[in-house]
Amino acid sequence: MTGVSKIVVLGAGNIGGSLAQRLAEADLAEEVTLFDIVEGLPEGKALDIQESAPILEFSTRVRGSTSLDAIAGADIVIETAGLARKPGMSRSDLLTKNAGILRGHAEAVRAKAPGAIVVVVTNPVDVMTFYFREISGFAPARVFGESGTLDTARFRTFVADALHVSPRDVTGFVLGTHGDTMVPVLSLTNVSGVPLTKLLPADRLDAIVDRTRKGGGEIVNLLKTGSAYYAPTASQAELVRAIARDQHRLLPVTAHLNGEFGEKGVYVGVPVVLGRQGVERVVEVDLTPAERAAFQTSVRAVREDLAILAQMPK
Ligand code: APR
Repeated sequence: MTGVSKIVVLGAGNIGGSLAQRLAEADLAEEVTLFDIVEGLPEGKALDIQESAPILEFSTRVRGSTSLDAIAGADIVIETAGLARKPGMSRSDLLTKNAGILRGHAEAVRAKAPGAIVVVVTNPVDVMTFYFREISGFAPARVFGESGTLDTARFRTFVADALHVSPRDVTGFVLGTHGDTMVPVLSLTNVSGVPLTKLLPADRLDAIVDRTRKGGGEIVNLLKTGSAYYAPTASQAELVRAIARDQHRLLPVTAHLNGEFGEKGVYVGVPVVLGRQGVERVVEVDLTPAERAAFQTSVRAVREDLAILAQMPK
């Protein structure tokens, strides 16, 4: 299967531009459209990516637009637009500003691409995904967020480094929220089937968990302006590929819970099966008592942010 007709990337910043490039190079759609409010930015990045096609041999047409009409007919929409947190800006300021941006996009997707699958990337991702779903009115299976595949990729990288093995042989999950309370699940991590807990002592594992939790901040501190986008867009492209090629991948995403893991009415990172229809099912895995408690703490943090969202004027 080659893929879908049209993928729309909302926001043509660091993430949006890099993601459009990865999607075009993977030939997952006949057309990839970049959208932004800054005149010239989506058109310029799209043309630049398009001009690499003769060398890289992809067939995808890459377009840029500053009109929300560009959403029309999208099979998959990835929401990356938004502000990054600036010094002096509170978490709730960021949350309400980004929700304001997403509202218009969710309404446009509902009107112009009613059959689309939506992947939300904008932070705080657990809350933004909840909000996008609410405004769009889409079935929860068709709107989910990306963070677990990124946090898990960072976790796998640090485990591979510590063991001097290939990162591809390390599998596992990071669940919960995309923030300080995320839950790298050590009990479900293994290296080609060998449990991780048999390969590294507890203090080394604690250090890896801590570095994973601070993974986004580590990059921000190094870059000083802007945040990570190479690993994030690799993670997003993996999700888009699973949808476009109907791969039924078992991956961690920010999914809607309706009783699974003992939680309801919240979006948070859990393992799911992902295919052309979006989230096919949430996969409930056994956690140790400590991991379950950490997961519940994580869900509480998301609910605190949802309370800020609920106070926003409708
Ligand atoms: N409509 C479309 N695009 C918008 C809008 C809007 N209403 N408001 C802002 N944008 C665009 C900006 O013009 C900018 O090009 O969103 C883009 C954001 O790009 P960057 O600032 O480079 O941020 P980026 O690193 O791409 O991250 C985007 O993803 O991982 C998350 O936390 C990150 O929420 C952030 C988002």
